[in-house]
Amino acid sequence: MSRIEIIQGDITESTVDAIVNAANCSLLGGGGVDGAIHRAAGPELLAECRTLHGCETGRAKITKGYRLPAKFVIHTPGPVWHGGNTGEEALLASCYRSCLELASENGCRTVDFPSISTGVYHFPLEKASKIAIGTIADYLNTHPEIERVRMVCFDVRTERFYRDALAELG
Ligand code: APR
Repeated sequence: MSRIEIIQGDITESTVDAIVNAANCSLLGGGGVDGAIHRAAGPELLAECRTLHGCETGRAKITKGYRLPAKFVIHTPGPVWHGGNTGEEALLASCYRSCLELASENGCRTVDFPSISTGVYHFPLEKASKIAIGTIADYLNTHPEIERVRMVCFDVRTERFYRDALAELG
């Protein structure tokens, strides 16, 4: 599917309608990509996040992008990996779907995702990449309003797993 692309880079530099933030349930910032996005967006992002009163794992909430080149930030808390028997896979799929639903509702045509949950939350990269690409592809099949989705991978190893998952889509 050509509407899904895999690139290596820093998502805070994405000039797209919406970038997704791998947040935590407080939505009050953190390390990893969450920290990078808040640093790049500036303090107004945290100020708007405070008005959202958190977010459940697998759900998503949207804010403006402020000093980021992206118009919007869609925040989603991914699941922490606990071995795979506490519904982590379904929750990760729900992150991707919830973000795309919010993107559609807000007229976003280009959306960039980081590799949700595969950092601090220790979700295995191979499983996560298959879930992400499969969920994104399923959504795009019935949502022509989304023009392009990119996985913005921070390192080569991550990029390789997402490229492989996309190649398996056929
Ligand atoms: N651009 C793109 N990807 C990035 C960037 C960046 N600037 N910085 C980090 N990443 C990548 C990581 O290398 C990893 O592949 O994002 C992926 C997700 O890793 P984390 O940021 O650790 O996110 P996650 O595993 O979902 O854990 C979320 O970490 O930062 C805290 O507040 C956050 O508590 C939450 C938890």
